[in-house]
Amino acid sequence: MVTGVFRSDAIESLFPEVETAAFESPEMLPDAPLFPEEQAFIGNAVVGRRAEFATGRACARAAIEALGLTAGSIPVGNGRMPDWPEGITAAITHTRREGREYVAAVAAKTDGSFGIGLDAEVIQTLKDGVRTMIVTEAEQSEIDALDPGLHNEAVIRVFSAKEAFYKAQYALTSSWVGFGDMALTGLSGAATTLVPTGSLAVLKQLSLPVDYHQILSNGLVVSGVTVRRS
Ligand SMILES: CC(C)(COP(=O)(O)OP(=O)(O)OC[C@H]1O[C@@H](n2cnc3c(N)ncnc32)[C@H](O)[C@@H]1OP(=O)(O)O)[C@@H](O)C(=O)NCCC(=O)NCCS
Repeated sequence: MVTGVFRSDAIESLFPEVETAAFESPEMLPDAPLFPEEQAFIGNAVVGRRAEFATGRACARAAIEALGLTAGSIPVGNGRMPDWPEGITAAITHTRREGREYVAAVAAKTDGSFGIGLDAEVIQTLKDGVRTMIVTEAEQSEIDALDPGLHNEAVIRVFSAKEAFYKAQYALTSSWVGFGDMALTGLSGAATTLVPTGSLAVLKQLSLPVDYHQILSNGLVVSGVTVRRS
């Protein structure tokens, strides 16, 4: 295992329904090794992008090995989703903002009936144009009802849950789902549910609504989603 990646019980707790292994790194590891085809993909990228890509792969390989499997190359697949080994569903996230760096990956054995998604975001103020792209009107009403000190955090919670959902669903559908196609309910309470907002056909392949789980810690929101086929 690469030095600098650590097992994360906190991330594993975001997936209560499935057995997962998760690893994280509190910083980018620019010298984390890559397999030749991974290197060929990322070779021309700027230093920071190569570092986040390599650190994500290091976390993912550690997670796959913790499940008792051999972790080899993880090429970039369809829609930029990593091409996971047969029988594995997994997800990578990396974030770097306001002096913070964080990378993590989670993996689980699957028979193809479910996918998992993971996303980490630094809590920050998003520009109005970005926020309105991510947050539905119903979600915005719930955010407006919160203490103003919680508004940025709530927007990032919406963003992170939706990105985690996107990764989990993509493993099953290989399809695009937009930010307006799903909405969080009960932002002001303990409810942690994502519901479809319309009748996007691809979502009929999935068992919805779906629960999401989040950790808020150290200026980060980290979200985990497990999605099953309908
Ligand atoms: C794909 C996407 C979710 C990645 O999220 P991000 O915040 O930009 O970046 P993160 O660091 O959290 O995750 C990046 C990793 O996601 C993974 N990823 C990229 N595309 C993916 C896909 N289609 N499916 C699953 N995982 C994917 C990759 O491992 C990537 O890291 P890598 O390129 O180093 O391997 C985002 O770029 C995107 O396209 N979002 C729009 C769609 C969406 O979120 N809709 C909401 C539905 S409710």
